[in-house]
Amino acid sequence: MNGSTVDDIPAHVPRELIRDDYPFIMGMSTSENPFKTMVPALHKNPDIIYSTNFYVGYQPAWIPRRLDDIQALYLDTEHFSTKGLSPFPILMGESWDLVPIETDPPQHTMYRTLLNPLFTPRKMQVLEDKVRFSARQFIDMFKDRGECEFMNEFAFRFPIVVFLDLMGLPYERLEQFMEWEFGLLHSMDIEGITRATQHVCAYLREMIETRRKKPVDDLISFGVTAKVDGRGLTDDELMGFCFNLFIGGLDTVSTNLSWQMRHLAEYSADQKRLRENPELIQPALEELYRRYAAVTTTRICTKQTQIRGVTIMPGDRVAMPTTLANTDPAAWENPFEVDFDRAPRHLTFGYGIHRCIGAALARRESAIALEELLAALPEFRVQEGAEIVTELGPILQLKNLPLVWDE
Ligand code: HEM
Repeated sequence: MNGSTVDDIPAHVPRELIRDDYPFIMGMSTSENPFKTMVPALHKNPDIIYSTNFYVGYQPAWIPRRLDDIQALYLDTEHFSTKGLSPFPILMGESWDLVPIETDPPQHTMYRTLLNPLFTPRKMQVLEDKVRFSARQFIDMFKDRGECEFMNEFAFRFPIVVFLDLMGLPYERLEQFMEWEFGLLHSMDIEGITRATQHVCAYLREMIETRRKKPVDDLISFGVTAKVDGRGLTDDELMGFCFNLFIGGLDTVSTNLSWQMRHLAEYSADQKRLRENPELIQPALEELYRRYAAVTTTRICTKQTQIRGVTIMPGDRVAMPTTLANTDPAAWENPFEVDFDRAPRHLTFGYGIHRCIGAALARRESAIALEELLAALPEFRVQEGAEIVTELGPILQLKNLPLVWDE
């Protein structure tokens, strides 16, 4: 057992539920397709396990794998909290919360009431032309070449441009934002993460100040002019809001989009079906979201409770891998098969009060990207013999995806 011994593990943890081989650990990577090998293997475990190595430094977490248990956890704000879950404000020596993800009711309800109208499908419709234009610009750069490195040339860049647009930030910042995003979310070196966090915070603070002086039509301006409980948002609340959008809406979109493209590149019949029936892209996407759910969310227990008869104590952390909920064999028929006609009610965007506020935007970004990619490229496939690497951890992210097509 790495790092901790059974003696270090609290007495309330049943010994038969302890595992030290949970695979989705930050800093690890694999050349396997984890959705095909690791996810089915995890469903051979008991309904809930206690992973000794979930966090870097071998911090433990409970990991349930059943759809109904994970749904119940998302709904249970009486026993579980999201407060203080991210390391970023602490690394800065500051104490703001990410808004709204690190807040609990009733504060969370106040923030969501304020923010929900910004992200409705109708609001996202307004961005439609800009998003499509950006997708075409990236595709134009490689479409006549017969090949592309999809992660670097499309998946990582496209959501950043959409984010810059939403926030009213200049496109010249694209490379800079990419560097910060990697430093924040994919570095294993604390100094690197701290530096990237400082850069992002300093830049966002500067932009908040600029918009305070002269608000325009973007999300930062919305923040500086918004009122909650009859007052304006504090500097900490504004920082938490901008930072939450930064870490919520970039990596997640890149990752999901790349798994969707990888599936179409590997399953030519599915790709052909969408080429011939572009109206199926939206329903097919829902099934691809289910099958390739990349995000694991976490909670901290605040009041003693039970999951499947197992005692969970205050201070215990619980990880909810959305991919396990979405493939629970007790809840889904042929859970590992991709079936475009399934119309699944998946947990890829979470569930309950913290359900992803950007889901409508993410869906449009993916749909537009797939529409444009399928229209511009002939049948594409993964480059023969390529080793595709996935970074494991709280997000299962492809590091490379070399695609080829016949010109
Ligand atoms: C495919 C892309 C995306 C996926 C898979 C995804 C996934 C999720 C999940 C699972 C949660 C719930 C977290 C929890 O309960 O702990 C969440 C919350 C959130 N997401 Fe997303 N997200 C995506 C795109 C976006 C985008 C584009 C934005 C920004 C516009 C965004 C902003 C947020 C915010 C602010 C929250 C917190 C909501 C709250 O606490 O009430 N996400 N997301």
